[in-house]
Amino acid sequence: TSDLPVYTLEEVTKHCSLDSGVWVTYKGGVYDITEFVSMHPGGDKILLAAGGSLEPYWALYAVHQQDHVLELLSEYKIGVL
Ligand code: HEM
Repeated sequence: TSDLPVYTLEEVTKHCSLDSGVWVTYKGGVYDITEFVSMHPGGDKILLAAGGSLEPYWALYAVHQQDHVLELLSEYKIGVL
């Protein structure tokens, strides 16, 4: 079972910059990826998803459809929608 907090979409959308923190959602999970932004192999493009859903971008950039990418993302999980 997960004791992670539940966040609203409205709260996620507030975290859309490096100053406010960068949160994203993926399949019902909420992730604080602020610390990962500067390590992203795809550079600043990651900020396009800031405050919103990864799904449309990861559909475009299929390089993310790999177990090692999902494992990396899971390290940043802070809650659920
Ligand atoms: C590559 C993670 C969001 C665009 C990668 C790779 C990882 C990664 C691990 C390297 C994959 C590999 O080569 O095996 C993430 C994570 C994200 C995220 C954890 C969100 C939390 C995004 C977004 C975009 C994006 C939103 C585009 C809008 C790219 C591109 C590459 C890439 C273009 C290829 C870079 C290259 O090889 O030249 N990402 N990504 N990523 N990502 Fe992301």
